[in-house]
Order: sequence, then structure tokens, then C-alpha cells
Amino acid sequence: MQDRAVAAGRLLPEPITRVLRQPARRLATLLQAPQPTPPPPPELDIPPLRAIPSEPIPIDVPPLPEGRKALTVWPDTPPPGYLGQLEPENQKRLAERWAGVTLEDCHFYHRSALPDGRVIEGAWNLIGGESAYLGGVALGGRRVLELGPASGWLSVWMEQQGASVVGFDLGWDVPPDLIPLQHFDLDTMRAEHISFATHVQNAWWFLQREYGLTAQAVYGSIYDLPADIGRYDVSVFGSILLHLRDPFQALHEAAKRTDEAIIVVEPLRHDPSQVDQPVLVWNITRGASPNGWWGLSPGVIVDMLKVLGFPNATVTYHRQPYRPENNPVEGATSLVNYTVVARRR
Ligand SMILES: C[S@@+](CC[C@H](N)C(=O)[O-])C[C@H]1O[C@@H](n2cnc3c(N)ncnc32)[C@H](O)[C@@H]1O
Repeated sequence: MQDRAVAAGRLLPEPITRVLRQPARRLATLLQAPQPTPPPPPELDIPPLRAIPSEPIPIDVPPLPEGRKALTVWPDTPPPGYLGQLEPENQKRLAERWAGVTLEDCHFYHRSALPDGRVIEGAWNLIGGESAYLGGVALGGRRVLELGPASGWLSVWMEQQGASVVGFDLGWDVPPDLIPLQHFDLDTMRAEHISFATHVQNAWWFLQREYGLTAQAVYGSIYDLPADIGRYDVSVFGSILLHLRDPFQALHEAAKRTDEAIIVVEPLRHDPSQVDQPVLVWNITRGASPNGWWGLSPGVIVDMLKVLGFPNATVTYHRQPYRPENNPVEGATSLVNYTVVARRR
């Protein structure tokens, strides 16, 4: 490169080469100087998987009897603007609609223990790992907005810690975000997804009823939360941002209503040299699934939350047992997640 620069320099008029000589020499010295080796990436502090206690053999969710459809309790039309959902009357009405929910109506995303000692299998086993999953935040006496609670094991656990929980999930006329990958029949997938979400929401209400809890449920669009959803001390985004087309808008909506802290949990998909960088990896399954929008580094979450007024952040790593739904026995493994806890002060 240096030789080529010298050759090019010979073609220039003398007054110009005179001016360029000094900076060119400096540049040559810099290029010849040994380059400092970048520091090794920081080691991540990932504790080993906790001991999983032997527990009763999980029971299977029985199939729906022939000809019976799963309970679908979403009202036919949502309330205008999704308003008024936290009115006690409305919560009572929802609980009444779900009062008869049976195990057959449910799909459990989380392994869930029932008050009578039975355990129901689910893809993620957070039992015993809840505190690490939620970044160790003390939740007693806190008003918590849980975005995307799925079958609700964390809602149960947080209420048991003394939190008052509002679970927010997809409204019944809000389709899930799917990457418009042309090789999928997206209309069919959307319909399947909504049916699946119904079974998962049934499980949320099933656990509420079995434990006699008081968590409230609100539905709608995560990009435009119901105007009367209220204020919260803590908002929780557990493994949801990767499924959203616009994670920043979802964080923004919650940030506007959160006074103390936002907790974000995501799967760890970056190597140690990238975790502090603001990195988003697009279409994480490379087209195998239309709902894996992003691989978000801890750094990008910290960055986004700082912009949204939560500058005081910590990042922790943890392992959780995971059994893929399509191969629960041979595929059983544990996966590393990270948790960002970002506070206003
Ligand atoms: C992977 S589950 C996470 C469950 C739980 N938060 C946890 O950490 O174990 C994703 C949740 O996000 C919800 N969700 C997915 N896409 C959504 C969207 N566009 N708007 C609102 N909720 C959504 C799902 O219905 C589900 O409750």
C-alpha cells in the first residue's frame, strides 16, 4: 500500500506532494507500528444450572375429548380502545368466563406446580429459577406490569412474593407479529398462532383459579397500551421482545407507565465480545420460523432503556432447563438467558 502511495505521489505536482509529505510519513509510521492486541472479551459470569429437585412425575395435559373445542372466552368484540378492562366488574366478568376452564383447555408454556402437588410439564422450567430469571428484583409490595405472561408461572410466583400483578397479552383482534416470509402460509400460521395463544391464556386463568390469585388480565396491542392501564413500579418483558416487530416501541409504551424499574429477559445469542455492544441480529432462525424477529444483545437493551429514562442498568446471566415441544425427551437441555434490570435512578 505504501509503495502504491509513493508511486501515486510521483504523478502529483511538487507543491502538492510537499504538503502531503509530512502526513504521509506520519501515516507510514503508524502503519508500521505494531498494532495493540485488543483486550480479550470479558468472561461472562454464567452460574451453572441449579440443582433440579426430584419432583413428582409431571402429569400430561389430557387431549380434548372428540368434538369438544377448547374454551375460547375472549368476548366477540373487544371493548372500544381496550378501555375499562381493569374495572373490577370487567375482571369479575373475565374470571367468570374462565371459571370452568379445565386442564384439557390449556397449553402450558412453563412447567407449573399446582397447589395439590401435581406438576404439569411445559417447555421452560423456571421453578426455583424465578428470582434469577427476574434479575433478583425485590417484588414485595410492588405493582408489576407483566408483558406477555404466557401460561403465567411467573405471574403466580410474583404474586406469591407479594407483588400485585397485571398481565398484559395479545388482544383478541391483534394478530401476532410474523416476519412476512414468503415460503410460509402466513394466514394459516396466524390463525394457528391465535388458537395456540388461546390455549396458553386458558392456562394462565387455570393457574389463577387453582391458586386463588388476584392478578388481573388486560389485553390489547403492546404498541399502543390501553390508555387507562395505569402506572406500575416495575414492568417485566420475559422472553417477548425477540417475538416483536418493534421492540423499542413496546419498551417505550411500558416505560411511559413505569416508575422504578424495567426487567428484560432474553435468550443470550451473542458471544462475550458482543454482549456490551448494541447489536440486533435479524431473523434469528434464518427463515425457519416467522416469529423469531431479533437476537438482541444485552447492550442494545441497556442502550434502549437508557434512552427511555432508565440509565441505571445491571446485566446478569442464568441457565434455565428447556425441553423443546417437538422433542421434549431427547432434546431436553438448558439454555442461557440474560436479564437486564434498568432503573430510573
Ligand atoms: C415466549 S412467551 C414468554 C412467557 C413469559 N413472559 C416468560 O418469560 O416465561 C411470549 C409471550 O409474549 C406474548 N406475545 C407475543 N407476541 C406478542 C405481541 N405482538 N403482543 C403482545 N404479546 C405478545 C405471547 O402471547 C406470550 O405470552
